Amino acid sequence: MSEIQNIQWFPGHMTKTKRKIQASLKLVDAVVEILDARIPISSRNPDIANLIQNKPRVVLLNKCDMADKNSTQKWIDYFKQNNISAIAVDCKSGKGINRFVPTLNNVLNKKLNSLKNKGMINPILRVMIVGIPNVGKSSFINRIAKQTKAKVEDRPGVTRGNQWYTISKNFELLDTPGVLWPKFDDQTTAEHLAFTGAIKDQIMDVELLAMRLIEVLSDIKPQKFMERFKLTDDVFENAENSYEILKIIGKKRGMLISGGEIDTERAATMLLDEFRAAKLGEITLELPVKV
Ligand code: G4P
Repeated sequence: MSEIQNIQWFPGHMTKTKRKIQASLKLVDAVVEILDARIPISSRNPDIANLIQNKPRVVLLNKCDMADKNSTQKWIDYFKQNNISAIAVDCKSGKGINRFVPTLNNVLNKKLNSLKNKGMINPILRVMIVGIPNVGKSSFINRIAKQTKAKVEDRPGVTRGNQWYTISKNFELLDTPGVLWPKFDDQTTAEHLAFTGAIKDQIMDVELLAMRLIEVLSDIKPQKFMERFKLTDDVFENAENSYEILKIIGKKRGMLISGGEIDTERAATMLLDEFRAAKLGEITLELPVKV
């Protein structure tokens, strides 16, 4: 997996990104970290705490439509225990987005009140979105921007080049998200990023990846996955390895090549696509143990 790291995020790239985010951080009062609700550990940038220091933070568990609801609640509770406000959102349908501004209000309440006490009538606080690629940063900004009309253009005193959306009476959102790098420090993380599509398939062996996904799914045995391919417990017990199950899945879909052999590459791509579209069930791959 270190090859992937080299292709997508070489150290120079990370340093540049870090500097860019640090510059934007100077302009904001809080950071909104977007995570993929299915993989809140793997979709988290390892340096986030270090980068944002003491800035107040809101976590958005995005793509909650594809995650297991109980697990998402466990994550929200976990963050709460660690004094971080987290909300579940689905930027595709807009579900949960209406809780964003009230949550920001709670998190920045102290600061707002202190500014009001200092005589500011209508204080404006600013926030920015950060997250690794593919977690839904643009989707979130588009959603929020759609709900609110005005884009605040550059104006005197505001660093040139930055544009802001007015998202409520007291808040503005930076229109460009901070793209963070994912972590690649272990195989599981890289696999989870690949299962969810955060790492592109061109640089992965799809059959190997699908076999690993089958291994993971054989532990969880999501109902939809089992029903979709008419799999039973016996299949998992009797199969010698996940390649055999991949063949069974391909056969169920009639994916044959000349000579009657099963097209396992096609089966692998189909399985990964269906997982990414949540057709195999609402599945969370990581539960709170460590962040
Ligand atoms: P990024 O800026 O962080 O890189 O992510 P982006 O918003 O581009 O979203 C990445 C993909 O995830 C997009 O799909 C987007 O539609 C999808 N997505 C974002 N939020 C959600 C969500 O809450 N639920 C679901 N189910 N999907 C979400 P895509 O296939 O790359 O593009 P498209 O389907 O929008 O054409």
